Amino acid sequence: MVRLTRMETRRLVANWKMNLPPEGIEQFVASLQKAAGGLQLGIAPPFPFLPVLVSAAAHREDLVIGAQNCSDRESGAFTGEVSAGMLTSIGAEFVIVGHSERRHLFGEDSVLVGRKARIAADSGLRPLVCVGEQEQSRENGETEVVLEEQLRGLVEGFGELPANLLLAYEPVWAIGTGKVATPEIASETHASIRAIVERLTSGGTQVSILYGGSVSPDNADALVNAGGIDGFLVGGASLSSSKFNAIAAVFG
Ligand code: PGA
Repeated sequence: MVRLTRMETRRLVANWKMNLPPEGIEQFVASLQKAAGGLQLGIAPPFPFLPVLVSAAAHREDLVIGAQNCSDRESGAFTGEVSAGMLTSIGAEFVIVGHSERRHLFGEDSVLVGRKARIAADSGLRPLVCVGEQEQSRENGETEVVLEEQLRGLVEGFGELPANLLLAYEPVWAIGTGKVATPEIASETHASIRAIVERLTSGGTQVSILYGGSVSPDNADALVNAGGIDGFLVGGASLSSSKFNAIAAVFG
């Protein structure tokens, strides 16, 4: 049985990264079962495939399309960047910011992530902001210190957090490794994130927090039942419609 947390809507978001589903985009969308039980589905494809996904999702109220990144600038001479306003203009509804691959492979710091989230929200996108510690930090007992630094950048980027903000807790050691966080670790860390957000915003901010990191049909049920987990951000397993459907089924 799924235990509901603060936010009624649960979300299951596919982060395709720099991949496409082997079965093809049209086939993938056609195979997606209609989400039940108030579940909202999301897909974040690589930039060039946003329009095709936006059209495929046009008749599906249970499916929203978003990007994996955006610029922290509105427009101008920033070669290779894509603005949040451009994403809104083609029908994207959310954007992932601060994914650990952006933070660690592309050097994005918490201040930049906070600015990106702010401009995304100001442009009408729902920011889905990822936070998470590396393995060494967890082993050193520094998980909360890392999360607080990341969340502080976010709070400072906004002043006040927008009501439509989504967070994703993605421990870096669990991303793409098959080494999923135990339900206890995920649940406890979600509680820590809520406590940090409350402290940094002087209370009153209720955020919805997704878990990400090696989520699969085999572990989704135990994770969602751990409490405090409002949905999932899924990488590898989101490239197969049958696996994605199987994960969605745990919310039903
Ligand atoms: P994974 O990726 O499910 O392949 O671990 C999750 C993510 O990076 O968002």
